[in-house]
Amino acid sequence: MDVSEAVKTRFTCRAFTEQPVSVRLIKEILDLAKQAPSGGNLQPWHIHAITGEKLEQIVLDIDSQIADMPMGEKPEYDVYPQNLWDPYRSRRFKCGEDLYKSINIPREDKGARLSQLARNFRFFDAPVGLFIYIDRKMGPPQWSDVGMFLQTIMLIARERGLHTCAQEAWAMWHSMVKKHLSVDNNLMLFCGMGIGYADESHSINSWRTDRESVENFTTFYGFDD
Ligand SMILES: Cc1cc2nc3c(=O)[nH]c(=O)nc-3n(C[C@H](O)[C@H](O)[C@H](O)COP(=O)(O)O)c2cc1C
Repeated sequence: MDVSEAVKTRFTCRAFTEQPVSVRLIKEILDLAKQAPSGGNLQPWHIHAITGEKLEQIVLDIDSQIADMPMGEKPEYDVYPQNLWDPYRSRRFKCGEDLYKSINIPREDKGARLSQLARNFRFFDAPVGLFIYIDRKMGPPQWSDVGMFLQTIMLIARERGLHTCAQEAWAMWHSMVKKHLSVDNNLMLFCGMGIGYADESHSINSWRTDRESVENFTTFYGFDD
């Protein structure tokens, strides 16, 4: 698979099969992804990779709290700016609507929507979860570096036949997650990422998000045609 094919076939997978993913494969992916660039070569990413019983413990712990706290804890950072404005607001809205439509959950069914949101906290059944941390003193340039690292993981995963789901939703349970891991206090949970094999038969994996055309987000200067 070439890079273009990996880019084209990557999507946010929200249903995985039970097929396990070995630690060897995860190490191989991370070992390549570490070649991602970062300003000043800071490499500001810290990864905790979990599977099996450890993952199940976190899932159970959150399960036991989620009925009382459906929106979890307050994230340590603003996942979106307050009062999101257009065009971003409309894009986010459409993404949510298309997602719930794919699994026949109407807007009014808040309970079903919350249950679907809660599936984030089992990595949508992915056999492996990554928790991605960044030093809380780092700023936007380093967060962007971590983003490049994450995209590199996602593309290499595609090349290995795997799919991924980046998940900021995990920020809603940052201290609960931390309880289960050995994480330095100066690190902040940015997001999680489920990794595994896509359940191709699940309708939640059957839709794709839109993108703006290049002309709508690029201004060209000095080109001949
Ligand atoms: C950093 C990051 C965090 C995300 N967090 C979540 C999440 O918590 N739950 C979820 O279902 N999707 C999450 N997504 C997936 C986005 O909704 C998705 O990337 C976007 O709608 C574009 O769709 P695509 O990835 O299928 O191309 C996240 C994506 C990124 C890059």
